[in-house]
Amino acid sequence: MSKFAELHYEGKVYQLPVVEGTEKELALDISKLRDESGFITLDIGYKNTGATKSAVTFLDGEQGILRYRGYPIEQLAEHASFLEVAYLLIYGELPTQAQLATFEREITIHTLVHEDIRKIYDGFPASAHPMAVLASLTCALSTFYPESRTTEGTNLNIIRLLAKMPTLAAWSYKNEMGHPLNYPNNALDYCSNFLHMMFAYPTETYTADPVVVDALNKLLILHADHEQNCSASTVRMVGSSQVGLFASVAAGINALWGPLHGGANQEVIEMLERIKADGGNVKKYVDMAKDKNSNFRLMGFGHRVYKNFDPRARIIKAACDNVLNKLGINDPTLEIAKELEEHALKDDYFVSRKLYPNVDFYSGIIYRAIGIPTEMFTVMFALGRLPGWIAQWKEMTANKEPIGRPRQIYIGAPERNYVPVSERK
Ligand code: SDX
Repeated sequence: MSKFAELHYEGKVYQLPVVEGTEKELALDISKLRDESGFITLDIGYKNTGATKSAVTFLDGEQGILRYRGYPIEQLAEHASFLEVAYLLIYGELPTQAQLATFEREITIHTLVHEDIRKIYDGFPASAHPMAVLASLTCALSTFYPESRTTEGTNLNIIRLLAKMPTLAAWSYKNEMGHPLNYPNNALDYCSNFLHMMFAYPTETYTADPVVVDALNKLLILHADHEQNCSASTVRMVGSSQVGLFASVAAGINALWGPLHGGANQEVIEMLERIKADGGNVKKYVDMAKDKNSNFRLMGFGHRVYKNFDPRARIIKAACDNVLNKLGINDPTLEIAKELEEHALKDDYFVSRKLYPNVDFYSGIIYRAIGIPTEMFTVMFALGRLPGWIAQWKEMTANKEPIGRPRQIYIGAPERNYVPVSERK
């Protein structure tokens, strides 16, 4: 039996259907509100607004729960490969052995990019941020591999994007370093191949450390999707104009780059280095973060949805100790991060606002330990998030969702007439 909420206004009553999700989340369906009442709703930053009904990812910010297609992130991070998780997110089920083998093979044989794409790198200055390069080249893929609306064509472009993004990402780093580009090696798995393209040199043989490969696999899984975050919503919004997969994902890469979103992982390490250079005075920076006039935030802290520990941060924090110990690395910024967390979580400013470490707080420490340069941290986030963006785009497209077009409340000038420039004061 359908349930309704009622809106009473100036003697009239409007019924708003109640929508209930799998985990009993509740929403008021306002899709007919304006036609029936003239009202729109206003929710700047969409803090309380659902943009869609999705089956991809479930998260509960109060409980610190995150599941991809129903599977808890803790189990996937522990037992799955990144490509298994990519398949799960995009196609809805964990692949059988045969399906996974086919998926892996398909991706392996599409890791090369058109040789003309190499020439585009020559046009970027060495100082180009790898996120700008990645976003540009992801969009440029549509000039080499036309967007498609058929199922076969779409699936081929999904494979191409998953296969080529690691190549584009690694080449953006090599281009920045002025090193020769490394071509993909089809004998390697997804993570080992990326590390090979990033760190191999023509002058010596490179073999990825299994500890590093495992850490990268875990990090990519933990970043793979996060329901309607800023960049996924961007992919859905841009995709709703039916522009196609490559252009929609390129828009998502740009949204992710922002320091309030995926760009935070780079900002966290720069913040920790600043604290280290300042004698490790953690209290000074916690106090600064509380001072509205300081313009300083504790990067990697706080989250729009998690009002408890970000479950990904827990896993990454534990992995930090494990990876650094196995690699025999002593990174003083890890101790500073732990001290910062401990200090903040005893401070009412953070406790009262439910500000906990998020996915970005510890991830940079592992990225650095496995050799990823700081400017590539957000590119790593994009590599992980790619299957999530694809899954969200595919769901939006399959559901034939209408073009996104929010309303507004106008607060500008009332009607007025044109005044010739000669008469303006
Ligand atoms: C990601 O949405 C997702 O799912 C994103 C993500 C994903 O997987 O896709 O999880 C990835 O983007 C993680 C977030 C990475 N960003 C950062 O770490 C940047 C630092 N964090 C903040 O800027 C902030 O916490 C946000 C952007 C993450 C969330 O911002 P909100 O929800 O808009 O909350 P807000 O800015 O309104 O903050 C509420 C209060 C404010 O104080 P008051 O006005 O109540 O006095 O908390 C304060 C803020 O000033 N606050 C912080 C703070 N974060 C919030 N104060 C100090 N340091 C911080 N980090």
